[in-house]
Amino acid sequence: MNRIPFLHFEPMHSAIRTEMQEAFQKVYDSNWFVMGKSVETFEQNYASFNKVSNCIGVSNGLDALHLALKALGVGPGDEVIVPSNTYIATLLAVSYVGATPILVEPDLDTYNINPKNIEQAITNKTKVIMPVHLYGQACDMDAIMSIAKKNNLQVVEDNAPGTWCNL
Ligand SMILES: Cc1ncc(COP(=O)(O)O)c(C=O)c1O
Repeated sequence: MNRIPFLHFEPMHSAIRTEMQEAFQKVYDSNWFVMGKSVETFEQNYASFNKVSNCIGVSNGLDALHLALKALGVGPGDEVIVPSNTYIATLLAVSYVGATPILVEPDLDTYNINPKNIEQAITNKTKVIMPVHLYGQACDMDAIMSIAKKNNLQVVEDNAPGTWCNL
């Protein structure tokens, strides 16, 4: 019987091994580990790759989500729609700003948040929809953006490790 590994990152990592090791070496040799030229270059490249005007590099995905919600002025009394099957960090970001996460069930074909269920979860306290792009598949962003526009809501995409908001 063939053993199928539960996690098998080796093929993905070996494809970029040299590029990653050279990048680590460059940062290490610069003796500059916080902010600096490497972070600035990353921010410019990431913004241009995503065709957006700004990118801010932060330490991790949870900080990115937390800061995006803070930037949008989300706080106590506000509701944020999140997928019920996401990682805990999505909900922690919402609780860090004192808002309430509202769990919405996924589409059973993609396991990503189901736009039909989003509409039903919207109340007069809803401020943000936070779709999470899970299992390597993008959420149905056309449908989500159109629901957000219709209901005057902000969208913060959890694309951990890359997170962006539609400020
Ligand atoms: C869906 C999702 N959101 C947010 C995060 C948080 O990312 P980080 O561990 O970099 O804080 C993760 C981490 O696994 C995640 O899977």
